[in-house]
Amino acid sequence: MLMADDEIPQPASPMVPSLTIQTCTGCHGPAGNSLSSAIPSIAGLPRDYLREVMGDYRHGGRFSTVMGRLAQAYSDEQVAQLADYFSRQTFKRHKQSVDWDQAFKGKQLHRLYCRQCHGDLNRAPEPGSPVLNGRWMDYLRWTLQDYLLGVSQADEEMSGALTRLVRRHGEQGLDALVHYYGSARPKSKSSE
Ligand code: HEC
Ligand code: HEC
Repeated sequence: MLMADDEIPQPASPMVPSLTIQTCTGCHGPAGNSLSSAIPSIAGLPRDYLREVMGDYRHGGRFSTVMGRLAQAYSDEQVAQLADYFSRQTFKRHKQSVDWDQAFKGKQLHRLYCRQCHGDLNRAPEPGSPVLNGRWMDYLRWTLQDYLLGVSQADEEMSGALTRLVRRHGEQGLDALVHYYGSARPKSKSSE
């Protein structure tokens, strides 16, 4: 049945069709907060970062199990809208089981090697760098391995920082970092 023009609901602003968002939230969790430690949360990641990563998945340059194929299905415009939507969502941390000695060591390493770009609980990351505190530990572990194996390419400065870290502190250094990132607890007012 036809409606008069003025009865057709018009979105107030350009919005991503909710079906497209639902494709993503099926894996990445409600509003992009993943419930699985194998799948990264994408809520609240920087808009430019989200766009860039989707491009990397599409063109290679970032290793993936599923995103490489999936990213092909979206136009630049859709990716921009998705990035806009997910960057506006609030990131939620989950309680993870950590070794506190490792986390303490990881904190020192983070300050020396990673904080200048990725920030931490007291300092916002540089634009374009994703936050690491509170991210899923399994996801971080695998993602770091992908950079080290060279199947994902980080920019030169970040590669340099990772290489120096591993040369001086070995795989244990990486593990300590992952425990530190996992040690960021959910905000107290959250229900988790
Ligand atoms: C079938 C499950 C699945 C679906 C559907 C899915 N993702 Fe993913 N996503 C993953 C997995 C798993 C990863 C980790 C990389 C990999 O192995 O593919 C990932 C990684 C990402 C990352 C990188 C996050 C980071 O921290 O760098 C972004 C961004 C992303 N997905 C966006 C999206 C968007 C946008 C959609 C919807 C169009 C979507 N994903 C749909 C499973 C999924
Ligand atoms: C010079 C700035 C810089 C430094 C130093 C740096 N990074 Fe990064 N890092 C980035 C940027 C930019 C990205 C996103 C783009 C990319 O993948 O290259 C990133 C991406 C990442 C990711 C992927 C996150 C995700 O959501 O998938 C991880 C994990 C990471 N960095 C860990 C580290 C660790 C650990 C250190 C310290 C040893 C470090 N980085 C040092 C800039 C930096």
